[in-house]
Amino acid sequence: MFLFISRPTRTLGNRMQSVRERLGPDLADQLDALHRNVMRTGLVSTQELEEAFRKTRDMDHNPNRLNLLWLLGIVFFIMVATPVFFETISFLLGVRCFLPNNYLVWEATRPISDCEFCKGVRAPLILANLTMDEFAPHAYSSMPIIVKRAVAHWPAQKHLSFAFMKELYEGVPEAMDSDCQFLHFNSDLKSLKQVFSMSEERSNLTQGVPWFVGWSVCQPAVLAELRKLYPRPHFLPVDAEMPHTDFILMGYEQGAVMHLDYIPRLMWQAQLSGNKSWFLAPAPECDHQCQPFSFYVEPGDAVLVDTRIWYHANTIPKGQFSLTVQSEYG
Ligand SMILES: [Fe+2]
Repeated sequence: MFLFISRPTRTLGNRMQSVRERLGPDLADQLDALHRNVMRTGLVSTQELEEAFRKTRDMDHNPNRLNLLWLLGIVFFIMVATPVFFETISFLLGVRCFLPNNYLVWEATRPISDCEFCKGVRAPLILANLTMDEFAPHAYSSMPIIVKRAVAHWPAQKHLSFAFMKELYEGVPEAMDSDCQFLHFNSDLKSLKQVFSMSEERSNLTQGVPWFVGWSVCQPAVLAELRKLYPRPHFLPVDAEMPHTDFILMGYEQGAVMHLDYIPRLMWQAQLSGNKSWFLAPAPECDHQCQPFSFYVEPGDAVLVDTRIWYHANTIPKGQFSLTVQSEYG
């Protein structure tokens, strides 16, 4: 407003004329009259009006505005450049994802827990092998459950091994190059091809450093062969929805670090070889109401954990080879 009022001063006469031409004589005359009245009040000087005009004129060159534009530019650059950077690093390292599972992104975007699931839980519910009806009251619980010896009768318990899977995948070489999810955890093995290219000594840990990997069996031909060795757990509800892929997890010593799974259903795991320790913890916002705890499972046990809400990590006793089939139900 002061810009227009300040226009008709003697020092701004030329600009006044140009504004008069743009606005038309009537509006310009009214602004002139308004300007003269303001000047008569003595509340503002011509210099102050000119200064106000200058500031308004220079608005497009305002350093604060420039800073804001710079800031927006930097944010945009980071948003675009960061994925490009990590993709490039991933490509150079030959791994599918430089930040495995996007844990940082998932943690930043997960919903806040209401802590009801973990109040008073200090250990898993340990059940003896049981029928579907007996299991029904627990079927969709967020309580961690071990069903002892539930999968001990599976042919997989006897036949599924590193050597079996190596032979199976080498018979379907395209399965090793597929886009099935591969998790290398802390190991140096970046693909299924590298896993099955290990020397026998490295694979059985008589040589080299421990390794632990997991992958999604999403190739139908491979999945069909594997499922000949194991059924769905007999105690799960008959109408429970099952996925079209299963996971194999195997290796030595350090398994998964503390994390949540971003999966649509509840998880079950069949422990086929080796013992495995589980470490469960509530979400950090539940620390004042709930406590972390640990337990272990033995070959032949089934373990059920809602890994979407329980943070979990695993380790395998030194020297033991752990082999697990994992899937979902819901
Ligand atoms: Fe997990």
